[in-house]
Amino acid sequence: MAFLTLPLLALTPLVAQAKPHVLFILADDYGWGNMGVHRRSAGSTPEEKQGKAEVHTPNIDALIDEGILLERHYTYKICSPTRSSIQSGRLAVHVNPVNSAVTSRNYNDPVSGYAGIPRNMTGIAEKLRDGGYRTHIVGKWDAGMATPEHSPKGRGYETWYGYYQHANDYWHKSTVFMATGEIDACLNRMKDLSMHNETYSGPVRDAISLSAACQEDEESDPGCYEEHLFKEQVLKIIRNHDTAKPENPLFLFYSFHLLHTPLQVPKAWLEKLHKLVAEAGGKRIDSGLRLLYAAMTLYMDAAIGEAVNALKEKKMYDNTLIIFTSDNGGPIYPAGASNYPLRGGKYNDWEGGVRTNAWVSGGFVPAQRRGAKFDGIINAADWYGTLTELAGVEMVDHKSEKANAFLKANAFLKEKGLPLLHPVDSIPQWQAIISNAPARTGPMHLSSQAVLQWPYKLVTGKQAMSAWQGPLYPNCSTVHSLEDRNGPLPPQQDMKVFGEPLPVAETPAEVDRQTWVIDCGAGCLVNVEDYAKLLKSLQETLESMNKELFNPDRGLDRVEACEVAIEQSRTFGPFVDSKEFYSPAPPKTLLEQVEDAALTAVLRKANSQTAKPLLIAAVQTISPKVFANSAWDKCLAPESEPQSFLDAGIVTV
Ligand SMILES: *[C@@H]1O[C@H](CO)[C@@H](O)[C@H](O)[C@H]1NC(C)=O
Ligand SMILES: *[C@@H]1O[C@H](CO)[C@@H](O)[C@H](O)[C@H]1NC(C)=O
Ligand SMILES: *[C@@H]1O[C@H](CO)[C@@H](O)[C@H](O)[C@H]1NC(C)=O
Repeated sequence: MAFLTLPLLALTPLVAQAKPHVLFILADDYGWGNMGVHRRSAGSTPEEKQGKAEVHTPNIDALIDEGILLERHYTYKICSPTRSSIQSGRLAVHVNPVNSAVTSRNYNDPVSGYAGIPRNMTGIAEKLRDGGYRTHIVGKWDAGMATPEHSPKGRGYETWYGYYQHANDYWHKSTVFMATGEIDACLNRMKDLSMHNETYSGPVRDAISLSAACQEDEESDPGCYEEHLFKEQVLKIIRNHDTAKPENPLFLFYSFHLLHTPLQVPKAWLEKLHKLVAEAGGKRIDSGLRLLYAAMTLYMDAAIGEAVNALKEKKMYDNTLIIFTSDNGGPIYPAGASNYPLRGGKYNDWEGGVRTNAWVSGGFVPAQRRGAKFDGIINAADWYGTLTELAGVEMVDHKSEKANAFLKANAFLKEKGLPLLHPVDSIPQWQAIISNAPARTGPMHLSSQAVLQWPYKLVTGKQAMSAWQGPLYPNCSTVHSLEDRNGPLPPQQDMKVFGEPLPVAETPAEVDRQTWVIDCGAGCLVNVEDYAKLLKSLQETLESMNKELFNPDRGLDRVEACEVAIEQSRTFGPFVDSKEFYSPAPPKTLLEQVEDAALTAVLRKANSQTAKPLLIAAVQTISPKVFANSAWDKCLAPESEPQSFLDAGIVTV
C-alpha cells in the first residue's frame, strides 16, 4: 500500500492546493520525556509507571494522533541559535552558534557585529508576506534586537507582542539573573516586554502587564502571568483574522516562554496537576522543580488547546498546518526537565540536547497520513524552505547576496576579513513528510563539535550535562547530589557577567565535575560497528564543515543599549539607528527624570574602563561560593509543595 500511495502523493502538484494557514508553535526548553506521547511505551516498573502518571499533555497528544509525529527533528543545543536558524533558514552553524547578550555590538562589523541574525538576511515572515500571508508573532524572540532590522518588525512580522532576551520574569517581565543567567551591562535593571502593530512600536506600557502586584497574585490565571498575556494575544489574532480573503492566509508564530526558567506558574495549576497525577494512579511528585515543570507543561498544553479551538470556531482549522517543535532539549542542570530515555540535554550535542519534541498537525495534513510517524531527518532550518514552498515564493535570499557583494566590493570592510553571509540552506520537507520519503540524507552539521550522519553521530570535545536521566528526573537523589557538591550545576557557557564567564566552582576541573562534563576529545562515535573507519571519515567531515562555521565577533555588551532602554521606560529594544523605531514615549515626571539620570550615571560608571574589570573580578571571585551554597531544588514531603519557584529553592543571587 505504501508503495502505491507514495508516488501519487509525491506527484501532487503543490500549486493546486490552497495556501494553508500556518500556526508555528515553538516551545522553549521542552524535554523529550515531558511530552505524553513519549511516555506511552513506558515500562511496568513503579518508576516508569509513576513517570507516565506525571506527564499530562492531552491536547498535544490528540494533535499528534491526528497529525504526524516527527521522530528525528534536530535543532541547535541552545536557544538563540535555533531561533536564528528557524527565522533565517540557515543551519544554526551558518547564522549564529552562540547566545550573545542582546546588548552586544561590534563597531567594526556593521553587517554581523550584533547578537542574533545578521542584518541583511531575509526572515521567513518577509518571505511569507511576499506570498500574501498576514504575519504575526507572539512571545519570545531571542534572535537579536540591536537595530530595527533585527527586531521582529524588521524581519517581516506585522505585529509582535513579546520579549527580546533569552527569558524574563513571568510576573514582572524584568531581566533578572534567574531568567537570563547573566549580569548584563544594565545590571539586570531593565524590563523586557515590547510590541509593535500598525500604529505603535516600543515597550508594552499598559499597567496590568507590568504591575508589581502581579508578582503576588499566583492563585488562578491572573491577567499578568506572561503566558496568559501571550495566549490572549494569540486568540485575538486568530479571531480578528480576515477569512474572507483566502489569498491572505494567516502565519502565526506562537513562541512560548514556557518551559524556560524561571519556573513560575499560577498556583492553581499545581493543584490541577496534583489531581491529574492522582487520577492516573501516581503518587505526589517529590521534587519541587519536577512539579513546577510538569504544571507549566500542563499550562502550555492547555494554551495550545485554546488556540486550536479558536481556529476551529473560526472555521480555519481544516486548512491549517500546525508545526510544533522545541528550540532544544530539556535543561537538566536541574531545571525540572527530563529527556528520558535520551542521553544529555540542553547545552550538549547528545540526542537529549538536540533531538526535540516535534510534530505537524491540523486539517492541512492529508487524511491518509494522519496518525503516522516520520523518521526522516529534519533540521529546524528546514521549516523556512518548507513554508516558502507551500507559500509559492522562492527560497533564495537576494538581500544577503547583495550584502555579500557589498562586503566584497568595499575595500575597507574586506580588509577586516569580515565573514560573508551564508545562503539559505533549508531543505523543503513537506513532500518528504507526507510521502514518507526522507529528504535530508547527507551528513548534517550540528555544531562545531558534532556531525550527524544517521544512524551515526560524531560528538567531540567537552560536553556538559552528559548524563542519562531516569524516568523520574530530577528527583531527591538529584537534590542530594547537589547538596554533596556533585552537580548538576548549570554549564559554564552561558553564565556571564558583562559577557565574561561566571565560574560556578573554584577550579576548571571542579567546574567540569559539577557540570557533568564528559570530554570526548577527538570523538565519541555513537551507534557504530565499523568504528575506526567511520570515525576517521566523520572527523574529516566535521573538520571540513567547520571551515564554514559562521561565528563573527558580535562585540561587547554595550551600556548604550541600557541608555536607550532607560528612555523607553527601562525596557529593552533596538539601540542602534533606532530613533525612528519608537513611538513617542509619555512624558516623564520629575522624579522619573531624576531616577533615570541617577541610574544612567551608575550604569555608565559600572561599564567604565576602570570599574568594569574590577566588578567582573569581584563577581567572579564570589560566584563559586554563591553557586555552591544555593539550594537548587527541594525534596518535597508528601503533602508539601512549593509556593513559588523561590520557595522551591532555586539559586537566589
Ligand atoms: C496598537 O497598539 C497600541 C498600543 O498598545 C494600541 O493603543 C492600539 O490600539 C493598537 N492598534 C491596533 C490596531 O490594535
Ligand atoms: C544591510 O542592511 C543595512 C540595514 O538595513 C543597510 O543599511 C545596508 O545597506 C545593507 N547592506 C546591503 C549590502 O544590502
Ligand atoms: C534520579 O536522578 C538521578 C540523577 O540525579 C538519576 O540517575 C536517576 O535515574 C533518577 N531516578 C529515577 C527513578 O528516575
